Amino acid sequence: MDTEHSTNPFAAGAAYVDGRITPIAKAKIPVTDWGYRRSDVTYDVVGVYHGAFFRLDDHLARFRASMGKMRLEPGESDADIARILTGLVRRSGLREAYVAMDCLRGRPAPGLPYHPAYGRAYLVCYAVPWVWLFTPEQQARGVHAIVAKTPRIAPESVDPTAKNFHWGDLTRANFEAHDAGAETAILTDGNGLITEGPGFNAFAIIDGTVVSPHQGALEGITRKTVIELCGLLDIPCEVRPLTVEAFEDADEIFLSTTAGGIMPVSRLGGRILGNDRPGPISARLRETFWARRAEGWHATPIDYDASVEPALA
Ligand SMILES: Cc1ncc(COP(=O)(O)O)c(C=O)c1O
Repeated sequence: MDTEHSTNPFAAGAAYVDGRITPIAKAKIPVTDWGYRRSDVTYDVVGVYHGAFFRLDDHLARFRASMGKMRLEPGESDADIARILTGLVRRSGLREAYVAMDCLRGRPAPGLPYHPAYGRAYLVCYAVPWVWLFTPEQQARGVHAIVAKTPRIAPESVDPTAKNFHWGDLTRANFEAHDAGAETAILTDGNGLITEGPGFNAFAIIDGTVVSPHQGALEGITRKTVIELCGLLDIPCEVRPLTVEAFEDADEIFLSTTAGGIMPVSRLGGRILGNDRPGPISARLRETFWARRAEGWHATPIDYDASVEPALA
């Protein structure tokens, strides 16, 4: 097996760049493209676990909606993208993978107006080994977080429901957390309401109800899954405004993302929640999430033995 892996040029990951397949280390984009220079790009990330995509159709639908909001129109259809992603994972042979799809704008060709309307959009997709936003050990003892002083950029300026690379605020907040000895940060909207953090949605459990902010955040696919799980487990769940005060006083806090699932928080700033371990409802949701995933919930299995699409050769 090891020999087979070491001879596979795609074992470390496979990429599709504007119609061409390459090993991940060789994937390149022009540095002059506006996807890079101006964050004129949108993206999505779907997970592969036990050889199957999780909620692939939801990720494709959100990616298409994000592209529409950012006026990026690649030539590929959703069915093409599904084939491309499947082909990349198949080539890599990875059973647990982080699978990204990006749509970038190029730069207007010489002679055309220097305006985004004249830049062609193209796709960059890749599959690499699974990434944990927080390690399983951090998740088991609970993540250490702060509420950042840096507010989330206004949604009127950068729409957080279109997944984007405008990470300036998220990165700055993450450094605030690091400087405070914490592992991550949750950002407010600057007006006393909780939004989200660098790569995840936020939840508070208040008097037995799971609460997630109603705006100012990405409509996470894992968040959608949390809402479904609450329904299945008869746990009250509400999407509504969540104040910083209510968040800081919550009985439990957890975060959700593709690259980690449901991730309990055990410290928020100076406060130790519960007994410095994940709270019972967060732990139950996390366990149920992974148990359902192992049963193939919302899964699209990948046939690793099928030959790779000739169109992608
Ligand atoms: C800013 C932000 N919010 C929320 C999320 C969680 O979304 P999902 O559960 O779809 O991965 C992400 C994921 O990368 C993110 O970048």
